[in-house]
Amino acid sequence: MKMDAFRYSKKVLEHFRNPHNMGEIKDADGIGRVGNPVCGDVMYLYIKVKDNVITDVKFQTFGCVAAISSSSILTDMIKGMTIEEAEKLTKDDVLKKLDGLAPVKLHCSVLAVEALRKAIGDYRKRKNSERQRNC
Ligand code: FES
Repeated sequence: MKMDAFRYSKKVLEHFRNPHNMGEIKDADGIGRVGNPVCGDVMYLYIKVKDNVITDVKFQTFGCVAAISSSSILTDMIKGMTIEEAEKLTKDDVLKKLDGLAPVKLHCSVLAVEALRKAIGDYRKRKNSERQRNC
């Protein structure tokens, strides 16, 4: 998975040119928003959950090639996973699926994973408040 300093893999470019699951879910069960204060990139991840399984996911990323590709491939990876399975994903899983990223771009893959963790956190928070309301 060794990459040239500034070259993108074929997989990265494919996802950048034709991102999967881009957009917003208006009635999402969980939303994760993260930003990178250094470059200013921002990412939103929306999840729909039924019976503890992620049934739909969309993203909006205002950022670089690596950030958009990481978001796109992450959405493909988590659709159909349980919340617990999705929670275990790491940036290395994303990097592996993308066939690597140049070292200067490694941090971009972290954004997608952080957005996922926040979306799951938001989902759990909403679920807990719903439970408390029904008590
Ligand atoms: Fe900002 Fe890639 S340069 S996330």
